[in-house]
Amino acid sequence: MTSRITIQFTAKQDAPSYPLILLVSAKKGIASLEPAGLAINDSLNGAISRAITEAEFKADAGDDLVIRAAEGTVLLVGMGAKADLGMASEHLGGHIASALNRAKLKDATLYAAETTAEWLASIAHGAHLAGYHFSRYFTKGKAAKPTISTLNIAADDKDAVTQAYMRYAGIAEGVFLARDLVSEPSNVLFPAEYANRCLALADAGCEVTVLDEKQMAEQGMRLLLSVGQGSERESRMVVMRWNGGGTEAPLALIGKGVCFDTGGISIKPAGGMEDMKWDMGGSAAVVGAMRAIAGAGIKRNVIGLVGLVENMPDGKAIKPGDVVTSMSGQTVEIINTDAEGRLVLADVITYAQKHYKPAAMIDLATLTGAILVSLGQIQSGLFANNDRLANAIASSASATGENTWRMPLGDDYHKLIKSKIADMKNIGGRYGGSITAACFLERFVENNTPWAHLDIAGMAWSDKAKPTTPAGGTGYGVKLLTHLAEHFEPSS
Ligand code: BES
Ligand code: MN
Ligand code: ZN
Repeated sequence: MTSRITIQFTAKQDAPSYPLILLVSAKKGIASLEPAGLAINDSLNGAISRAITEAEFKADAGDDLVIRAAEGTVLLVGMGAKADLGMASEHLGGHIASALNRAKLKDATLYAAETTAEWLASIAHGAHLAGYHFSRYFTKGKAAKPTISTLNIAADDKDAVTQAYMRYAGIAEGVFLARDLVSEPSNVLFPAEYANRCLALADAGCEVTVLDEKQMAEQGMRLLLSVGQGSERESRMVVMRWNGGGTEAPLALIGKGVCFDTGGISIKPAGGMEDMKWDMGGSAAVVGAMRAIAGAGIKRNVIGLVGLVENMPDGKAIKPGDVVTSMSGQTVEIINTDAEGRLVLADVITYAQKHYKPAAMIDLATLTGAILVSLGQIQSGLFANNDRLANAIASSASATGENTWRMPLGDDYHKLIKSKIADMKNIGGRYGGSITAACFLERFVENNTPWAHLDIAGMAWSDKAKPTTPAGGTGYGVKLLTHLAEHFEPSS
């Protein structure tokens, strides 16, 4: 909703103003000030080095130390051995943001040694991402009015850093949009309201189209509609097009947008069911990425498609044993109405291929609890029918710190979703649940179109804060997809 950090770049001055943030590296276990810090330490008659010794400050990544000198406050932030450009600098920015918050400093200036513009911009980005706070539903107390701090960053070349930061600011917009969507409860963010929020992407330069139930019925999207048929809230599909790449075939980004997943007639247990408000995390990553891609003006054609439904038990709801014909024409026996995400995605995948002939497709979904069992909340599961695409995703994942791990597909797993009455059933057996779910999706990929599926059930939400991600909706996937859209060359 809001950021608690405002980022500003200033030109470096000889006599910096307090409060001051200095970076400290841990060289062979010894905290070492940068040259700029050494000069300030001298001007404070060694107050900083004394404080480092007294506090046994190690300068490991994430360590911080507040020094209240007569001249002003100095905040030391540890870099560890070194904070290279990339995730290390982004995390360093996150640590600076939390240190500022803990020290209750409202306005402070980072005074770092001569570095590249990119490096300072990446630190700023990390601090900005860490400062996010979803405060919409607090009406009183600190949470309703979080302290806003200004982080001034003193730069040798202010214009170059400002320029480098612009790109990051656009990506952060996308991440924040995804976090907002994931954080909203389902009484507020139901499919029609979600579609309305997507329409705002037109301001960023996307062409946005919303399909209602009647229009989806005309397309034959019975699988998607079957998931929403037990809900009072109508289903929607939103198509967002970014045309930055001329006549090339587009990259399609597809997201599971289950605004609430009760499980339907195969209803879930009560404990923890509130988590299922973020069962639209895959779609949020897609919408956030479209915003970031448009904001950054990436020179590619990208289409975001999200299937928005609510999975409810009701007299009209889909029932176990029902057989439904998908948009692709293949029939599906619904064994468990709680395996609904794959039903939604299947029709959106078919729609994407029929209308846009994508060069490659990537779907993101909080698809299975089983992926939490295999990979925990550390990385998502990556499934793909194409090694080039899988490798490109893996490198975008490591470049952005949104990690993923490749999982298998294959005929032996496909056998597990054979149905006795239809072309397939919507669940496999007890084991390998994330893989059989991915196999189900693979059956809707036509003509060997390069396709990948990211199961992000362990990544969309976090109860614990990380360096650049406060607890709550993470926005996982936005940075990865934006990086991929920029770097992946689909081979023709
Ligand atoms: N939305 C859930 C998966 C999920 C679980 C997401 C935990 C986030 C956290 C999905 O729709 C689901 O219910 N999957 C079932 C599949 C089963 C019925 C084959 C599951 O994982 O239990
Ligand atoms: Mn479910
Ligand atoms: Zn679900």
